[in-house]
Amino acid sequence: MTAPATFLSPRDLLARWEEQQSAYVAHRENRFEVMLDILRLHSPAEPTVLDLACGPGSISDRVLARLPGSRVVAADYDPVLVRIAQTVLAEYGDRATVLDTDIAAPGWADVLARHRFDAVLTSTALHWLSPRQLLGVYTELAAILPPGAVLLNADHLRFGAEHPTLREVSERHEKRVQEAAFAGGACTWDEWWALAGRLPDLAGLLAERERRFADRPPQPLAPLAFHLAALQTAGFTEVGTAWQYLDDYVVFARR
Ligand SMILES: C[S@@+](CC[C@H](N)C(=O)[O-])C[C@H]1O[C@@H](n2cnc3c(N)ncnc32)[C@H](O)[C@@H]1O
Repeated sequence: MTAPATFLSPRDLLARWEEQQSAYVAHRENRFEVMLDILRLHSPAEPTVLDLACGPGSISDRVLARLPGSRVVAADYDPVLVRIAQTVLAEYGDRATVLDTDIAAPGWADVLARHRFDAVLTSTALHWLSPRQLLGVYTELAAILPPGAVLLNADHLRFGAEHPTLREVSERHEKRVQEAAFAGGACTWDEWWALAGRLPDLAGLLAERERRFADRPPQPLAPLAFHLAALQTAGFTEVGTAWQYLDDYVVFARR
């Protein structure tokens, strides 16, 4: 039983976020498992990880809890989500750093160049960027990552007109998963934001959130082929997919 909104802590809000996001991403935990396995099997035992567009800290929380000795830099541009991530990840002391960062702004990665990242992990986020911004993000990451570091991007990469059956099946699957999740008590996106707004500390940040994202309409969605070509163009040496379920992928790239 989840606590009434008046007694919600940032940790409770993160838990509600996980339920909400899992309504939109059927096999979200599988994505995270693949990421963690690649970290365990490829990266140093105590990796330094960049959680890109971290939201309230879902990836960071899993990395820090499950990989002892790991360190995380988590970055996002949403002031509400940054505040939640800062509060929740403070549980891990100096192993976690949370930054207020707009990854659509050229030069955003400059401040991160002092870190030696073993991996960049990101989920359900890069579709917020235009294809041009996406290439920019991959290029900035390639410039700061050492050889051998990996980038793992979990996101829906929608099927195009050349795959009408797969597109239709994916849409129907998604609808069914959402209906079941909401019937089971998960918040919708809008309901989660209404819940967050009931915490005075967060309510004061909502106007700034509105302001920051006001001029950012939904972007044309880049297909898998674009991601792979952009990663290669940016300087990644090995690119491919590490996991797929219908139109949901974990894209892999090694510097
Ligand atoms: C659906 S959330 C996913 C968050 C988290 N990775 C997860 O899987 O739960 C998408 C995130 O991308 C962030 N985002 C969108 N555009 C961004 C930008 N230009 N710079 C930094 N973060 C951005 C949003 O603020 C939001 O936190």
